[in-house]
Amino acid sequence: MTEKPVALIVLAAGQGSRMQSDLPKVLHRLGGLPLVAHALAAGRVLEPQAVVVVAGHGAPAVAKAVAKLDPDAQIALQDQQLGTAHAVSQALPALKGFEGRVIVLYGDTPFIGQETLASLAAHPADVVVLGFEAADPGRYGRLVTGPEGLERIVEYKDADEATRAIRLVNSGVLAADAALLRAFLPRIGNRNAAGEYYLTDLPALAREAGHRVEVVTCDEAETLGINTRTELAQAEAAFQARARAQALEDGVTLADPATVWFALDTCIGRDAVIGQNVVFGPGVTVESGAEILPFCHLEGCHVSAGATVGPFARLRPGAELGGDVHVGNFVEIKNSVLDEGVKVGHLTYLGDAHIGEATNIGAGTVTCNYDGVGKHRTEIGAHAFIGSDTMLVAPVRVGARAMTGSGSVITQDVPDDALALGRAQQVTKPGLATRLMQALRQKKGN
Ligand code: UD1
Ligand code: CA
Repeated sequence: MTEKPVALIVLAAGQGSRMQSDLPKVLHRLGGLPLVAHALAAGRVLEPQAVVVVAGHGAPAVAKAVAKLDPDAQIALQDQQLGTAHAVSQALPALKGFEGRVIVLYGDTPFIGQETLASLAAHPADVVVLGFEAADPGRYGRLVTGPEGLERIVEYKDADEATRAIRLVNSGVLAADAALLRAFLPRIGNRNAAGEYYLTDLPALAREAGHRVEVVTCDEAETLGINTRTELAQAEAAFQARARAQALEDGVTLADPATVWFALDTCIGRDAVIGQNVVFGPGVTVESGAEILPFCHLEGCHVSAGATVGPFARLRPGAELGGDVHVGNFVEIKNSVLDEGVKVGHLTYLGDAHIGEATNIGAGTVTCNYDGVGKHRTEIGAHAFIGSDTMLVAPVRVGARAMTGSGSVITQDVPDDALALGRAQQVTKPGLATRLMQALRQKKGN
């Protein structure tokens, strides 16, 4: 890895007004996770000693989301968005005592590559700016280079015609030593067309003071920033295309790649087989050789080797399927552990449950886990047989090798090896059906 320790600053205070949204821009989802998760994930490869996210618009919501994504990340508040240099200044107190490389990323720029970040971190110059040759340089800051590297960055608003003709532009990502940022950020003013404190003034100031300032370039696709819903939708398409290609390359079979949707953190083992129209929400692991049949929705779950799921199954957070488990159609599983070889074939809800090894769950079984206020657990032992249409009123325990009769409402614990019947006794009246029908027809007059 890199020699110097690394800290990350992720700028995420902007409103993102062009999203036309009450949600802070960096919390819009891409690949099932908030935009800011992507920058954080890319930065993680540098094994940063500290991560600071600068939040402003919707800061409480941003802070909450970031805490979930990276409990070690710190939040710096930027009440007023006075510019990118001001934003970085707000993060510096959180890096008190840190000596090393600081990398500044944008929370709304999700595709920045891990290799690109590694090359910025390892670069010997004092300030390194990530630039790219833009197909259309638009309103990006222009990078004015000379024989000794980067001379200055000129914002579009402040650029003359000749400078605007430059196609090498600023991605916004920048690396500089912490000490240098502490020394130079306070010297950046806001006398420019936007009246903002520009981080892009840093290169020229550092160079004047004799520091080495360089540009590293990357592919334009890595620097794609999200400003509108249209761009978000396009980014999602790009993300999915990449995730599908990666899964295929990793040895996963996708029956129809275009219909499978991945999350940023989806983890699928070699030789897993994924059917058509499967959606992976965040937090899914599918082990090697498992099979997900068409039309399944999985989130926050673990599917072990040899398991089969679907078609039309829903695995919600906390669903843990052991080896060779079979989950069939119209089954929903939440916060439940199914030990090896469990079969739950049809039309079933399992919530807050533990099902022992090789147990069979009949069609139409429901764990009645919620009483309107609290959630309660259902424990079912190994090698048990739950008859079709059993209602398991939690908290309740069914022992190992026990059985429940079809249609039972189980409200009391069932010991090991016992059969429990919790349904009305059948009464049979010979001939009554025919007599009843005749009487009814007569009454109707035909
Ligand atoms: C910035 C760069 C420009 C570069 C472009 C790339 C400056 C002055 N300009 O311009 O050279 O080509 O990015 O996209 O840096 N932010 C804050 N607090 C602030 C201001 C911004 O957190 O006070 C965040 C925003 O949420 C955003 C990022 O910083 O994620 C960039 O800000 P934005 O206003 O979009 O900068 P640009 O004008 O695009
Ligand atoms: Ca921008």
